[in-house]
Amino acid sequence: MEPLLEVKGLVTNFFTESGIVEALAGIDLTVFPKESVGVVGESGCGKTQTAYSILRILASNGKIMDGQVLYKGQDLVQLADSEMRQVRGKEIAMIFQDPMTSLNPVLKISDQMIEVIAMHRDVSEIEARELAIESLAAVGLSDAADRIDEYPHKFSGGMRQRILIARALALRPSLLIADEPTTALDVTIQAQVLEIIKDMKEQYNLALMLITHNLGVVAELTDRVHIFYGGRVAEVASTYNIFTMPMHPYTIALLESIPSLDVEKGRLATIPGSVPQLINPPKGCRFHPRCKYAKDKCSKDIPVMEEKETGRFVACHYWEDVEISELAEQVMGSHKDKVNQKA
Ligand SMILES: Nc1ncnc2c1ncn2[C@@H]1O[C@H](COP(=O)(O)OP(=O)(O)OP(=O)(O)O)[C@@H](O)[C@H]1O
Ligand code: SF4
Ligand SMILES: [Mg+2]
Repeated sequence: MEPLLEVKGLVTNFFTESGIVEALAGIDLTVFPKESVGVVGESGCGKTQTAYSILRILASNGKIMDGQVLYKGQDLVQLADSEMRQVRGKEIAMIFQDPMTSLNPVLKISDQMIEVIAMHRDVSEIEARELAIESLAAVGLSDAADRIDEYPHKFSGGMRQRILIARALALRPSLLIADEPTTALDVTIQAQVLEIIKDMKEQYNLALMLITHNLGVVAELTDRVHIFYGGRVAEVASTYNIFTMPMHPYTIALLESIPSLDVEKGRLATIPGSVPQLINPPKGCRFHPRCKYAKDKCSKDIPVMEEKETGRFVACHYWEDVEISELAEQVMGSHKDKVNQKA
């Protein structure tokens, strides 16, 4: 099957007064039609900037320096701005971490949905209103026909995130990028919003790129995972393989970093050492200052991502030496049951 999205060798830099931030140093990432792909890694490893590079919504000091973003075979990096505006929303929609800042507080929900639907789907405003109401009802907003004319402050955080999901899906995109979509919400609401994303994905045959810190969410919602470290991809595998047989030292360190008490919550705690500064990143493998398997070669040569087994990609010189610790096994075990085994 042809990938829906294929990011190849993506390099994005930020130009700052202190120097050049090499934020993405050759990202490869694929999403197949209808697939749900998790993007996981510690803070600052390039997850959000990968999404922003795909959609070309980087901050003004950021620039894509190299690589391709093939979407349905077309390189988005090369598109004219006007063509890119058509892709955003209509083909690829994104929902952000904070539902407060993504809605304009001084505009009614209707004003934030109808025009964009009418434009992208080429329908009248009356039809667009109907589509908006239908979409709001689909994400569980009761009395959508009345409530569509209310202002954002009338809704709770969870409801606002549902509204943003509805707004994204009303355009019938093929790919939804969700960047930490539940982090800003209460724990009880998080589960509901994830359930909505899951339902909507099935209902609309969407592909999903889900950026998250939460391994529990990864286990429940994704088919495949890309593990990011320091602006590169360390490992790609099915979610099942990540939770049964991780191959990269960083993936194992991530699993080990979850304190046993926090296993249920599935949140990432810290791994010893700190994430690399990307202005002057470590040479060779960027993980080498923190890696217990590192040898001389690791600080000199960048490990190339290779397919070690069918569908299993690892960027590590010494992946064969890696052992899964008891702690990592515990964490894997606690999530394994949730993983969709068909993947
Ligand atoms: N406008 C900017 N100028 C300079 N550096 C930036 C800018 N935006 C992002 N960066 C840097 O790019 C790197 C990648 O950031 P990114 O936002 O992708 O991290 P992330 O993986 O999404 O982290 P988090 O989990 O905290 O959201 C970080 O080192 C960050 O400091
Ligand atoms: S390449 Fe070396 S430093 Fe990097 S993860 Fe593998 S063993 Fe560790
Ligand atoms: Mg981010």
